Amino acid sequence: MGLQGKIAIVTGAGQGIGRGIAEVFAEQGADLVINDIVCSKGLDELAAWIRDKGRRVVAVQGDVSQRADVERIFDRAWAELGPADILVNNAGIETIVPFLELSDEQWRDVTDTNLKSEWMCCQSFCRRIISDGRKGSIVNIGSIQAARVLPGRTHYAPSKLAVEALTRNVSAEVGAHGIRVNCIHPGLIDTPMISWVMQSEELLPQVVAQISLGRPGQPREIGNVAAFLVSDEAAYVTGQALYVDGGWVGK
Ligand SMILES: NC(=O)c1ccc[n+]([C@@H]2O[C@H](COP(=O)([O-])OP(=O)(O)OC[C@H]3O[C@@H](n4cnc5c(N)ncnc54)[C@H](O)[C@@H]3O)[C@@H](O)[C@H]2O)c1
Repeated sequence: MGLQGKIAIVTGAGQGIGRGIAEVFAEQGADLVINDIVCSKGLDELAAWIRDKGRRVVAVQGDVSQRADVERIFDRAWAELGPADILVNNAGIETIVPFLELSDEQWRDVTDTNLKSEWMCCQSFCRRIISDGRKGSIVNIGSIQAARVLPGRTHYAPSKLAVEALTRNVSAEVGAHGIRVNCIHPGLIDTPMISWVMQSEELLPQVVAQISLGRPGQPREIGNVAAFLVSDEAAYVTGQALYVDGGWVGK
């Protein structure tokens, strides 16, 4: 298995799962376009880490919930590294608000960041790939919450379940062009997004007790599965959603 000679774009790569995916891809030989909404220390550190591995890297600040930013990210990718082969739609946000208190703005922010962004990035990527006459592969990041109810997520959970439907529908429309589209639903992964769970002596054991493997996952464990799905070894896999959750949804 390897990603030698491939160019991959990873959104929300400044920390957490996006960083784990970018690291695994670089180790497997891919050149990287790494994006985040903020040009953080994390993004700079990751760029330096990738260069140390001997891979080419471009870091592009941009908000993937905004169409102009999406087009600018892909323009820079194509201009600075050449036509991309791989897209990972990872950027996402989670807020916790009781259903009866949720505002229109809170619904919009989560839905735009988690779902509209993935739709726009899929579209911009596929248009370019098809126009170049090349093949490509996409991984969309959803969540275990596509299948598990947690309190205060009546905006977050639908956005993540919809990522699975987006994946299936886009895969059906672009399959004839040689573009594969799959979805990973991560379980409890040790990242800054869930540091409040990881640091809670009360909550963490309660969540871990629901996971067959009895532990949280690490970002690179999502990266390893993403690397397989975008590789040539997965050439006949498309339209799928895979729970990478240590056996939470199945328990
Ligand atoms: N950590 C988990 O347990 C878990 C579980 C299921 C799903 N997920 C999903 O995995 C993805 C990554 O989560 P994480 O835990 O690494 O989160 P994180 O908050 O640690 O990292 C997410 C990164 O995305 C960036 N980002 C946010 N909005 C953006 C935007 N509009 N444009 C560009 N970048 C943006 C952030 O700045 C941050 O660097 C998210 O889609 C999240 O919903 C995480």
